[in-house]
Amino acid sequence: MSRQAISAIYLADEATCVAALLAQARLSEDATGRVTSLATGLAAHIRAHRRPAGGLDVFLREYALSSEEGVALMCLAEALLRIPDSATMDALIRDKITPAHWERHIGHSDSWFVNASTLGLMLTGRIVRLDPAQTSDAGNFFGRLIARSGEPVIRQALLHAMRIMGRQFVLGRTIGEAIAHAKSDASRGYRHSFDMLGEGARTANQAAHHFQAYSNAIQSLSAPAGLHAPGISVKLSALHPRFEQAQHGRVMAELTPRVAELAALACDANIDLTIDAEESDRLDLTLDIFAAIYAGLRDWEGFGLAVQAYQKRAPHVLDWLAALAKQQGRRIPVRLVKGAYWDSEIKRAQERGLSSYPVFTRKASTDVSYLACAARMIAAGDWLNPQFATHNAQTVAAILVMTGADRGAPSVPFEFQRLHGMGAPLHDLVMQTHGASCRIYAPVGSHEDLLAYLVRRLLENGANSSFVNRLSDDAAPIEDIVRDPVAVIAEYSAIPNPQIPLPENLFGDERRNSRGMLLSDPAVLTLLMQDIETCLSAPRLAGPLVDGVIQKGPREAVSDPANLDRMVGYLSMSDGSAIEQAMASAASAAPAWEAMGGGARAHCLDSAADLFETNRAELLGLCIREAGKTLPDALSEVREAVDFLRY
Ligand code: FAD
Ligand code: 2OP
Repeated sequence: MSRQAISAIYLADEATCVAALLAQARLSEDATGRVTSLATGLAAHIRAHRRPAGGLDVFLREYALSSEEGVALMCLAEALLRIPDSATMDALIRDKITPAHWERHIGHSDSWFVNASTLGLMLTGRIVRLDPAQTSDAGNFFGRLIARSGEPVIRQALLHAMRIMGRQFVLGRTIGEAIAHAKSDASRGYRHSFDMLGEGARTANQAAHHFQAYSNAIQSLSAPAGLHAPGISVKLSALHPRFEQAQHGRVMAELTPRVAELAALACDANIDLTIDAEESDRLDLTLDIFAAIYAGLRDWEGFGLAVQAYQKRAPHVLDWLAALAKQQGRRIPVRLVKGAYWDSEIKRAQERGLSSYPVFTRKASTDVSYLACAARMIAAGDWLNPQFATHNAQTVAAILVMTGADRGAPSVPFEFQRLHGMGAPLHDLVMQTHGASCRIYAPVGSHEDLLAYLVRRLLENGANSSFVNRLSDDAAPIEDIVRDPVAVIAEYSAIPNPQIPLPENLFGDERRNSRGMLLSDPAVLTLLMQDIETCLSAPRLAGPLVDGVIQKGPREAVSDPANLDRMVGYLSMSDGSAIEQAMASAASAAPAWEAMGGGARAHCLDSAADLFETNRAELLGLCIREAGKTLPDALSEVREAVDFLRY
């Protein structure tokens, strides 16, 4: 599988992708029956072994993201930990807590955790709301409230609540603490992969800090008594502040040696190192770095990669990895995940006006893709070392059946993986009943680095489509929750989710969204740069346009602000007579323009928008060369103009 072939399906038609995957994920009737009965048993066991008082899962179901209160909580969780000053935190609390209807959640759940939290939120809401007469002068009212320490107390309480939630998902603040905490699960047979929290470094100092944290962690893991085959999971975005396709040369030169150094340390310490999968636009770069480092490793088979099944490119990436391993004669550990960035992938593709989504738009399509990918990994078992990361009993049951492990004789060695704080009853059970190997992904760090990870977990646990969320609702029938995703898809009239229109159709009948570009695709970027060069090969001439004619006058040379020796073209400025002439001709054209009527005038603007899009490379080139804009900024500028015209 070539890298071009992988890129070619980056934004491929969803129905075509899913149709191909369905064929690969479909099992025989007998196997499907075995999966269903196994999954039903596993799901019933998880329900029966939930913590009796209810925990975070119940809380997250009560405050589902479909409710106003759930969204308010998510906004707070998302923002509170990273707001540096108390005044802004208080403003956010006022904004998010006050309008919600906390009362309707009290007593709604058996869980003390839910009720206590609801009471707290309700009181908070009341304290902040108080009497409408008092609150009419908001500035004065809140001034008095803060003076009485109302909001600082609320702020402290909310921050504390966030930290409690954080603790659910983080194994320790330091690697030493995490290793100590890991020992009890390790004594029950669990393996661990430690993740030093931190991602999306913004500065070189942050990247250096994360690098140090990873290298210390690897050294600490080199001989820790009481752990089985520990590993480390690394996010590349933590290790470089410009981990993006546009900085390809710099990233390859600066980031690759850093990751290679960590890989060498891990190899010496005899622990596995896995590169996590992050946003889809980082995939190409990740594969480049992976291939560069993998080629330099000798006999070590511990350098692995996570692959996200929700991406259309996933099956091709697996084929590419298997071919790479075969070519070098060394197995590659591959962790198959569904993908943790779904919401932001959808939002970003819409914002960027992409032609389609890089990920599937239905949950069942991701589930089918996961099973199709799993089948590929099992078939490539000589070259890939399969690791299946999931908390979903249906997915686990399907893997057990597909590998033959349900009948005690797996065709390939493999392991299951779960996140710390999630999926314990399911994995405990498959370890006991099927002798499966299971690994816990164990985040390590303090609350400052926790935010992004915590928000992904809250989204994952709070989404009403997720397995853990659905199973925590005792009223939901288990048979529905463990349905074969192949059968679920068969019932849809259309494979793409009709509630998620393509980015182009985001504004419905009102107007077409401006067209963006997939700047993270090397093929798109290369072609665009060639087009820009061609368009700007001759110097441009710009001047006042009066009655459709460019006025000639004294010319000034215009050069590229990034390279003053590079000429962009010549510019002549308007003089008084050009301005008068322009005003006069505009005035004489106005009655005819007015008489055209709104529809015809709008048509002119729509045509202008289309022309802007047709001549996009030239306009982008001018924004870059004349105004010194970056490519993404230039694209935003042209798209804004197109959007305004259509609007
Ligand atoms: P399920 O409830 O069966 O699936 C939930 C998933 O379905 C969502 O996360 C999403 O991927 C998908 N989904 C939800 N709604 C839709 C929709 N409308 N359309 C399409 N798809 C949808 N994630 C990463 O991104 N990178 C990593 O490196 C990574 N490492 C992990 C390591 C481990 C050990 C584990 C356990 C998880 C890791 N994850 C990673 C997180 C992982 O992606 C999520 O935990 C996982 O998606 C949850 O899947 P599930 O089978 O447990 O749950
Ligand atoms: C995440 O950070 C687990 O890598 C996954 O969400």
